[in-house]
Amino acid sequence: MRKVVIAGNWKMHKTQAEASAFVQQLMPQLDGVPDDRELVLCAPFTTLDLMANKLKGSRVKVGAQNIHWEKSGAYTGEISGPMLQEIGIRYVVVGHSERRQYFGETDATVNARLKAAQAAGLTPILCVGETKQQRDANETEAVITAQIEGAIADINQYNLVIAYEPIWAIGTGETCAAEEANRVIGLIRAQLSNSEVSIQYGGSVKPANVDEIMAQSEIDGALVGGASLEADSFAQLAGYQQR
Ligand code: PGA
Repeated sequence: MRKVVIAGNWKMHKTQAEASAFVQQLMPQLDGVPDDRELVLCAPFTTLDLMANKLKGSRVKVGAQNIHWEKSGAYTGEISGPMLQEIGIRYVVVGHSERRQYFGETDATVNARLKAAQAAGLTPILCVGETKQQRDANETEAVITAQIEGAIADINQYNLVIAYEPIWAIGTGETCAAEEANRVIGLIRAQLSNSEVSIQYGGSVKPANVDEIMAQSEIDGALVGGASLEADSFAQLAGYQQR
């Protein structure tokens, strides 16, 4: 069965004090959220230990936003799988478009990071998506197909989440039409050997549009930036179609 995964991506937001306050506000609001959905918060490195401690034994899993492919070594500024695994991290975002755009991630480094995540027992959330220019040039399908092909070579598809995030919809308030997101996600699924991989949509998901997005047949969850930063809003996303 395909698992529903609602994940927040905090990006470079929240100090420890802010993360603590968020958890305190969030938890009472999750009463009554059906347990058919996995809830994940991908937080900055400096809050991960605190988040893992605060959320231990709760239904909310903690994720990181990057992972290096080696277990240790001379890689200034990087964090490894065993370091994340040791403190109870369960998920990690890999290949987010901001990493590709600003920090030189390629399909090859994404592939190496995915392998490292799985080797450390974490579930990677692999992000793919096209730019506005590529969409306008009718290159969406070719771009997504190439990103998936390059990223998932030799990857275990039984411990993998994919997020389709059209870059033009990230942080812009401009959501991809739900039917179109569904179509692209269907194309991604057709490329996989395991058709049960959970595939999320990401890009300006918010409480006002999450129900429509989650009603699509191919969409198994959401990866949410801006609307995951407030506890009330994340709780509403977690409770999609219920409240
Ligand atoms: P957004 O970000 O929800 O703020 O558009 C999504 C993401 O970057 O994962």
